[in-house]
Amino acid sequence: MCSMSAEPKSKNYPEATNEWKTPDGEFFWGSAQQVKNDPLNFYLQAQRQNGDYLKLKAMLGFEWYFLTNPTAVEHVLQTNQKNFRKPDLFMKPASLMLGSGLLTSEGSFWVKHRRLSQPAFHRNSIAKLASTVVECSEKMLSRWDNMPDGSVVDLQHEMVQLTLSVAGRALFSIDLAEHATDVGRAVREAFAIVNAKMFAYPLLLPLWVPTSEHQQFKQSKGIMDSVFTKIITERRKDPDEHNDLLGMLMSARDEETGAGMTDDELKDEVVTLLIAGHDTVAAALSWTWILLSQNPHVMAQLHDELKAELDGRSPALSDLEHLPYARMIFDESLRLYPPAWGQPRQAIEDDLIDGYLLPKNAIVSLSQWVTHRHAELWDKPDVFDPERFTPDKIKARPKFAYFPFGGGSRVCIGQSFALMEAQLAIATIGQRYQIDLVAGQSIVPDPTFTLIPKGKISATLRRR
Ligand code: HEM
Repeated sequence: MCSMSAEPKSKNYPEATNEWKTPDGEFFWGSAQQVKNDPLNFYLQAQRQNGDYLKLKAMLGFEWYFLTNPTAVEHVLQTNQKNFRKPDLFMKPASLMLGSGLLTSEGSFWVKHRRLSQPAFHRNSIAKLASTVVECSEKMLSRWDNMPDGSVVDLQHEMVQLTLSVAGRALFSIDLAEHATDVGRAVREAFAIVNAKMFAYPLLLPLWVPTSEHQQFKQSKGIMDSVFTKIITERRKDPDEHNDLLGMLMSARDEETGAGMTDDELKDEVVTLLIAGHDTVAAALSWTWILLSQNPHVMAQLHDELKAELDGRSPALSDLEHLPYARMIFDESLRLYPPAWGQPRQAIEDDLIDGYLLPKNAIVSLSQWVTHRHAELWDKPDVFDPERFTPDKIKARPKFAYFPFGGGSRVCIGQSFALMEAQLAIATIGQRYQIDLVAGQSIVPDPTFTLIPKGKISATLRRR
């Protein structure tokens, strides 16, 4: 059941004739409790039962708009992106953790920092990092080689350790693998509190109010800060030696003013890049191994490709174009389990999307999780099938049917790096080890912030 609602006419858009649908919710809470308890299921069913243009309601008159078809996504992220900002309900809680880094800044500050950071993510800069990815993956495999064949590990933890050491070395020339347990836990705990604050917004208590949640947050943030301070302090000792992202950010100067980044600005960018740069890729790789273990025919085809192309040698950047199936597997994994599973925005002025009036200040919710499983865009949407990502099939789909890295000017700055890292890691690990899920565990996605597999994922490692 649902109800229809028309916005009051806008004088700018008299042609807005379509009416938003509102799924039935509870009298007081609206849809808030369902979104809080099980957002993935709620949003997916809301789209499947009511369509692509929904107005959702919560208590105290709070409303938000849920847009799921590719035309609407493209409108918000790209075509009319100037009319959309990141809303305070995301920015304020996320800034507690990330300060004013790229992900949590707007306006001229964001433009300046994006411009300063961009060269580090240029194709040529990233190409130099390929060997780092392979070295870090092989270091992990040497550790696995020292364990008895058939050992059981926590897959998600292994992937966090791997991507943290890649991000540390690639971005800051420092190996952070030893901090994986602490940082991994601190990031999860801090994300949980940021997430809870997004739901509580605007009733956001300042951090100095001594709640147990705030104590926990400060503890987690303290662990992360000590790692980030270590990164910057070690670098200050020999500032000239490294040609990496941190070096570029430290020496970058604004074209107009000649000013560099302050220490605080630098720290916020380091925090953002390290967290955004490892947590997402770790989640995506974990899901990839889970899906491969659940689909042995795909795993077998991957091994055929690796054998034919590499035959046991370490992969290099130049091999990637000859490993299309490894890339298709990763693309399909990002479709089914997109690490960034939703993107919030706020309309600055009235807007018209597909005949629907979006009022000024409206909160808009886009969701990779839902659009990537949209039944009108994807045949058997819940099934894992890398063949969806052949060049012809990609061309035949609307561009924003698939947007794991967002779009428009705020598209993920690390997209090319992430794709290269994942394809190389899959090739390096896949040809040496068979990874199988231990039978009997239930694999459930945890959407607290990045979409990770919930809890410990036990996997058996067998040498090939
Ligand atoms: C599979 C891996 C990844 C996924 C799925 C992913 C996804 C995304 C998405 C969807 C956004 C847009 C957020 C928004 O506009 O609301 C984003 C932004 C961002 N990502 Fe990624 N990301 C990944 C890997 C990385 C890596 C490896 C880095 C850095 C090394 C990175 C750094 C960032 C930064 C700094 C932003 C903010 C960009 C801006 O607003 O200018 N990400 N990412």
